[in-house]
Amino acid sequence: MKDLQSSLDRPALLSPLNFIDGEWQSALSGETFAVHNPATGEVIANVPDSQPVDARAATDAASRAFPGWREKLPKERAAILRKWYDAIVANGEDLARLISLEQGKPLAEGRGEVAYGASYVAWFAEEASRIYGDIIPQQQRGKRMTALKEPVGVVAAITPWNFPLAMIARKIAPALAAGCTVVAKPAEDTPLTALALLKLAQEAGVPAGVINIVTASREHAAPAVGDWLADERVRKISFTGSTAVGKYLARESAGTLKKLSMELGGNAPFIVFDDADIEAAVAGLMASKFRNGGQTCVCPNRVYVQSAIYDRFADVLSTRVAALKVAPATDEAAQIGPMINARAIDKIVRHVEDALAQGARALTGGKRLTDVGPNYFAPTVLADATADMLLFREETFGPVVPLFRFDTEADALKAANETPFGLAAYFYSQDVRRIDRVSRLLEAGIVGVNEGAISSEAAPFGGVKESGYGREGSRYGLDDYTTLKYVCQGGLA
Ligand code: SIN
Repeated sequence: MKDLQSSLDRPALLSPLNFIDGEWQSALSGETFAVHNPATGEVIANVPDSQPVDARAATDAASRAFPGWREKLPKERAAILRKWYDAIVANGEDLARLISLEQGKPLAEGRGEVAYGASYVAWFAEEASRIYGDIIPQQQRGKRMTALKEPVGVVAAITPWNFPLAMIARKIAPALAAGCTVVAKPAEDTPLTALALLKLAQEAGVPAGVINIVTASREHAAPAVGDWLADERVRKISFTGSTAVGKYLARESAGTLKKLSMELGGNAPFIVFDDADIEAAVAGLMASKFRNGGQTCVCPNRVYVQSAIYDRFADVLSTRVAALKVAPATDEAAQIGPMINARAIDKIVRHVEDALAQGARALTGGKRLTDVGPNYFAPTVLADATADMLLFREETFGPVVPLFRFDTEADALKAANETPFGLAAYFYSQDVRRIDRVSRLLEAGIVGVNEGAISSEAAPFGGVKESGYGREGSRYGLDDYTTLKYVCQGGLA
């Protein structure tokens, strides 16, 4: 821990404690669990292993704080959010180091994530004053009908390890802007960035109880979160993570009928038609697929290339992929860092071995890089992928590009949509009619057309089918944190 703090310009940013009702505190049991550096496997900190009693204390604080926070003027809430944004930017380098240390992404990407996460805070600071309702045109004399947007109440934010700053920022910022208070649990692999973010929120003047955070190990996460699922005071859950866990949360919270936002798994297709600009398609695929080493819900998981250009595309792509630098984040030149943990590596190995056994060819990569560290996998391109392979059905979440061949537009669309998931989809084409047609027919919440970088605080992020529901970011993102109240005032004639 001392080593970790000494690597920061502001060591005080790191409080390895829960934050409840404005106080930094241990779990009531005093138990802790270890956080590891995925690049080396070393323990870098110990944080509270919270249990239901700690989760309950967080809800108590958030419920007490709710009436005061919701009564603040939107511009008062906005001013605090804006200060939080300024603090994130001012401490950006430390936050990037923390992200890279506990999550493994290269430092340049860690810096990118700080800017990305901060952009949601700035966006929702601005949106706070624009939560309009409606005056409904008069239907009867003497009656005025209005629709008002009100904060939903206490929100439970449950966040993943792949973007330890951006995902929690894009849940807490709209919640606070709307007048909600928050209880949060970050992923057990990456709690330190979230705790640092809360430290900055405290310094920015977020009142006690408005944001509360508890950390818990894999073993204790379900009981701790279970307390929120059963507690009728928690009115909403916002979750980013796997579809299996999303379904569990939806099922287990049904008893108190909460509002839910679920940003779940994807299995994104990336289609390259033979009228595409091949160089642009390779560049878009590289940017999108290898972001965070392939550990992103919107990463292309299946790449479909039309037969006439398949070999040329595969050649250009594998040359670019073979040149990627795999190294720990401490190396400024790193482009691909470690995977998050041994379970992640095991899944990638299983997918690649299954594909090779069923006839895929590794054009580059295809193996673990144990000489670099425990959790590294070589950036890989697999030709001759088919729908029988595991990597067609499941999200690999690693630096592996399987290339599928197709003949017609109809074949590509059928294969792309042949999945229960529907988060992101991408395609490259220069035919305007095809662009219109394929954008409409792809079953996904987000479509990139001749573009691999689709994420933005100004855009609605979310999926269809088993990739979930609700939208984060954009002007639509606030709807998830508000309820509509209809007020009918009579006696006005
Ligand atoms: C995710 O992987 O869940 C989020 C990625 C993004 O916001 O671009």
